[in-house]
Amino acid sequence: MVFYFTATGNCLYAARELAATEGADAEPVSIPQEMAREGNLSYAADSIGIVYPICGHMMPTMVRQFIERATFDTPYLYFVCTYGNRHANAAELCVESAQAAGLEPAYVSTLLMVDNWLPNFDMDEQRARISEKRIDENLARIKADVAARKRWIELVTDEDRAAHQQFLTFGLKFDAENLDNFLTIDAEKCVGCGVCAKVCPAGCIALEDGKAQRNAQSGQGCNACLACMHACPAHAFSCLAGDKNPDARFRNEHVTLQDIQAANNTR
Ligand SMILES: Cc1cc2nc3c(=O)[nH]c(=O)nc-3n(C[C@H](O)[C@H](O)[C@H](O)COP(=O)(O)O)c2cc1C
Ligand code: SF4
Ligand code: SF4
Repeated sequence: MVFYFTATGNCLYAARELAATEGADAEPVSIPQEMAREGNLSYAADSIGIVYPICGHMMPTMVRQFIERATFDTPYLYFVCTYGNRHANAAELCVESAQAAGLEPAYVSTLLMVDNWLPNFDMDEQRARISEKRIDENLARIKADVAARKRWIELVTDEDRAAHQQFLTFGLKFDAENLDNFLTIDAEKCVGCGVCAKVCPAGCIALEDGKAQRNAQSGQGCNACLACMHACPAHAFSCLAGDKNPDARFRNEHVTLQDIQAANNTR
């Protein structure tokens, strides 16, 4: 059983590949869809994997809420943390979040993929670097580790910890509860297609009078995942932290827009 949280498809792709090792029909399970369900979330399986994109080296808010709310009955709980540029002490932070939820991971690995953080990275440049990141080679190593039920937590160095401390000094408040603190939507550019509302895993966006705006009904905070900004065909979103190349957006090449909507649209 493999759970995932995704904005632009990297984690869905990795989760699909990991689920496929359990059987040809095995599909990964979307964390936003599970979180939208009422009642207890209990899972039992021979192995349970959780795949998420690191966010300032940390676990996205909804993933943390998921592991705190759910119960997992498994002899082998593993985490794969995708990232695009610098993982820092993500593996250690993952273990800390898991332990805070009463869980003991058997295996934690990071996985280098495309970096979808638009303020710092040009998606055209990122796409050009896909082959050098050896994504499938590294994913094959993780798949083999999981299939062998390898018990291993990725090593973290003092340098990694220092990188995270440095980030905390300069970093943004990524789990900003108020979307207005993070993104703005240009009503002039918005064509009212509704895609942003459908790819948002936290239900933060709604269409009103044919224009996208912050969903006043949403009790869920923005996860700063950027799914909306990447998927908007009109490039109507601006991130207050910046936008390295406003013409370039990203979606993992193995994943469709419909896949991301199916994963994240909970309304
Ligand atoms: C808000 C935010 C913060 C991020 N922080 C980091 C980071 O600290 N280090 C890093 O290497 N990548 C970082 N990334 C990049 C993502 O972790 C990476 O692109 C991930 O594979 C995206 O997965 P997805 O396509 O499933 O959403 C960040 C992305 C976002 C949107
Ligand atoms: S995806 Fe862009 S164009 Fe479509 S409704 Fe949202 S903001 Fe408007
Ligand atoms: S509003 Fe955008 S950045 Fe925030 S959680 Fe929704 S899709 Fe992600």
